[in-house]
Amino acid sequence: MIDRAEYRRLMGSWATGVSVVTAFGAEGPYGATLNAFSSVSLDPALLLVCFDHSARTLGAIRHAGRFCVNMLSAEQEEVSRRFVGKVPMAEKFGELAWADGHGAPVLSDCLAVVVCDVTQEVEAGDHTIVLGAPVHMEMRSDLHPLVFYRGAYWERLAELAERVSAPQGEFKLAGGGSAAAAPPPVSG
Ligand SMILES: Cc1cc2nc3c(=O)[nH]c(=O)nc-3n(C[C@H](O)[C@H](O)[C@H](O)COP(=O)(O)O)c2cc1C
Repeated sequence: MIDRAEYRRLMGSWATGVSVVTAFGAEGPYGATLNAFSSVSLDPALLLVCFDHSARTLGAIRHAGRFCVNMLSAEQEEVSRRFVGKVPMAEKFGELAWADGHGAPVLSDCLAVVVCDVTQEVEAGDHTIVLGAPVHMEMRSDLHPLVFYRGAYWERLAELAERVSAPQGEFKLAGGGSAAAAPPPVSG
């Protein structure tokens, strides 16, 4: 048997983006911060999100049969924090800017959003994997991702992302050399 706390720590070493997954329940918009999100298939296009059985947003996804993955930008740590916890949904959405976009709540100013139809649910341990087929997508090229790593938000990675998106040939290697396509050195 592996140690649960250690497993949790180990999985925290896997750096991820941060999303808020939203759906319309019977009483209005629902949403939860979620990083268990992945692309699954290109043809057909399929992605997955993974919810604790107790997540209220999972009930809303079942109700609507449709959900939106709102991928957060480095400027949206506050949005991520707001969608964690069992506070009333009205409090989570509060004065936040959002709109009904193709049948799911779409948050404003995200890095990217993808609205999906539920195609399948798979129970796995204490979580439910929800598979979705994208029906609508929006993407911004002027924003960088909010990153979650070892239990903390890493906005500084946005600076590194800035360098990754720099034109080829601008990267400087730590040793003083340069390389056209090498990733930037990570320090600090
Ligand atoms: C960075 C981060 C990532 C999270 N990822 C997930 C996740 O992948 N699945 C999940 O069920 N809860 C995740 N949570 C916890 C949920 O956001 C939280 O339990 C939420 O309030 C539950 O949803 P509900 O409000 O719809 O009940 C995450 C929390 C944080 C801070």
